[in-house]
Amino acid sequence: MKTTFSIIKADVGGWPGHALVHPDLIELANKKLAVAKKDKLLIDFHVAHCGDDLELIMTHNKGVDAEEIHCLSWDTFCEATEKARDLGLYGAGQDLLSDAFSGNVKGMGPGLAEIEFTERKAEPVIAFMMDKTEPGAFNYPIFKMFADPFNTAGLIIDPSCHDGFVFEVWDIKEHKNVMMKSPEEMYDLLALIGAKSRFVIKRVFPKTSSKLPSKEAVSAISTEKLYQIAGEYVGKDDPVGIVRAQSGLPALGEVLEAFSHGHLVSGWMRGSHNGPLMPVSLKDAQCTRFDGPPRVVALGFQLKNGKLTQPVDLFDDPAFDYTRNKAQHVMEYMRRHGPFEPHRLPMEDMEYTTLPKVMKKLGPRFKKIK
Ligand code: F6R
Ligand code: MG
Ligand code: MG
Repeated sequence: MKTTFSIIKADVGGWPGHALVHPDLIELANKKLAVAKKDKLLIDFHVAHCGDDLELIMTHNKGVDAEEIHCLSWDTFCEATEKARDLGLYGAGQDLLSDAFSGNVKGMGPGLAEIEFTERKAEPVIAFMMDKTEPGAFNYPIFKMFADPFNTAGLIIDPSCHDGFVFEVWDIKEHKNVMMKSPEEMYDLLALIGAKSRFVIKRVFPKTSSKLPSKEAVSAISTEKLYQIAGEYVGKDDPVGIVRAQSGLPALGEVLEAFSHGHLVSGWMRGSHNGPLMPVSLKDAQCTRFDGPPRVVALGFQLKNGKLTQPVDLFDDPAFDYTRNKAQHVMEYMRRHGPFEPHRLPMEDMEYTTLPKVMKKLGPRFKKIK
């Protein structure tokens, strides 16, 4: 029997502003998923948060896109929204963009990453959760883990990784996807995924030469774009990702190493600014300075027949202090630019923010230069 690992998340209200998830919402979600576990719909679950996003980490045997699992998540978010309204939390129900659930949460506001796979003898799985950024923020670290030998020593020295991996890249504007092999097509791959607001890594697969099944993803990223669904800015897409590790895949430490740069991502204040992605522990996953900076949390589990161990809060480690300090220097440097690019996003990325309204007001005052 295969196991499905799903992370489904939504911002259903912030505490205060867009900083954090209120503990009452976490408690509500825990209770709701505990009932689903008792009813055998879920094998196991863990509720977490990153910034103002409520994260449902679930294991089950229903496969990806399973209606019952999506319905459970949707109902949990709806009930959490009610709770958020009762408590007067900020932006209650922000990510629930439709009133009518139609069997799948895709395109309805929540973000999701799911993979179904045959468990190995020992199966380490890492749940990554980001706040105040967009799905393209995963391009850099996922590329580093699965394609860059300067990050992942296994690509050079472990025969079971040596052939590389296959990347599924989505063009989120044109709604198309393409499969690309690394290292053979690495330069073409980088040509696409460097444009991270348009081309995003959706999944990574082993090659057919691998001892792992080549059709079972070893990583998956949420690629929902809230602004494309909502038509106007309703918050960033705050993505999540799943990465399996070890035995023919990047080692846990190679997976985490990919986050040691504090790379620049877009999001942060009003979803309109570039800033460093800071890897933090759960207790520091609250967005404060200038509504940020963008953060990433990593929870590591071992799986056994779908059962989850307690998670390990993987960035809760002084080994990442250097990255955090560096991110803070970069944050300070970027902040000094105020409303100037490249701190503020370029015009084309501001299309779905509140800026066009300001530009519209100025429109009639522009006169042709003769
Ligand atoms: C970023 C984010 C926040 C808000 C900002 C303004 O993803 O959600 O930075 O954009 O706090 O929020 P409003 O417009 O709700 O006052
Ligand atoms: Mg929010
Ligand atoms: Mg958020």
